[in-house]
Amino acid sequence: MAGIQQLSTKHLLGIKYLKTEDIRLIFDTALNFKEVINRPIKKVPSLRDITIANLFFENSTRTRISFELAEKRLSADVVNFSASSSSVKKGETLLDTVNNILSMKVDMVVMRHPAPGAPHFLSQHIDVNIINAGDGTHEHPTQALLDAFSMEEKVGNLKGKHVAIFGDILHSRVALSNIFCLQKLGAKVIVCGPPTLIPKHIHKLGVGVEYDVKKALAWCDIANILRIQLERQDIKYFPSLREYSQYFGINKSLLQQLDKQILIMHPGPINRGVEISSDVADSDHSIILQQVENGVAIRMAILFLLAARKSEARQQGL
Ligand code: CP
Repeated sequence: MAGIQQLSTKHLLGIKYLKTEDIRLIFDTALNFKEVINRPIKKVPSLRDITIANLFFENSTRTRISFELAEKRLSADVVNFSASSSSVKKGETLLDTVNNILSMKVDMVVMRHPAPGAPHFLSQHIDVNIINAGDGTHEHPTQALLDAFSMEEKVGNLKGKHVAIFGDILHSRVALSNIFCLQKLGAKVIVCGPPTLIPKHIHKLGVGVEYDVKKALAWCDIANILRIQLERQDIKYFPSLREYSQYFGINKSLLQQLDKQILIMHPGPINRGVEISSDVADSDHSIILQQVENGVAIRMAILFLLAARKSEARQQGL
């Protein structure tokens, strides 16, 4: 793997820590892997002899399957850990759990955890590469990368493009990672949702705030629609899902009032009839399933580039 262009970081903890050149390198590499996964034989030997542990302390469908497929298509050995069926239930600490898994000679860790900062904490205590697959309400860097990659595939370079993120911004790790990623790529970003679900100081990140869905839709080229994260809400932020859908749900009638076509995105899981109607989710303007498809190529690129960096460091005796 010597001679391969390198990422500037050993871990992927958040988009906040990536340079724009890192994002571009990940996209260029993902383009190559997208070609690979559309071949009849979808597998390459790049990560043969690398063992990756997928540690999921929180539920996941897309991210977990996508990482596992990406790892297997790169020929890595894969072990999967799920907190619900593990000794975490018996009181073991995060660090003890991870150190026990690493003692079985694991090279990389992909981790989803409900606590913001959990992968950052681990990175200070263990020596392997860590990829954040979502840490609480904080960041979901691979989702933001696959989102931005999918946007560029449809509308070209994002410099100057208008992206509106709709929904429960307060509890969303996808929103924060998207904001960081889109801004690094030169896009203009606003958020739209009920005032109770918009963080008070979000304007300090350089994003606009719009409470009127019609105005936000009229402004944007791309609408990234997020779900209401009821599992993270310990108080009521709005009267009912019915009322939320009435005022903030994106439906066909709202899109038909626009004098342009906009790209519709959603990281999933979608709640049909709440934040997005079925006729919008399943429309020709929706790229929800293309996002999922691109997720495998993006995750292959990240795993490949982090492994290449590790291999180079080993050769230099670091
Ligand atoms: N988009 C996303 O993170 O989905 P999962 O929770 O199913 O992984």
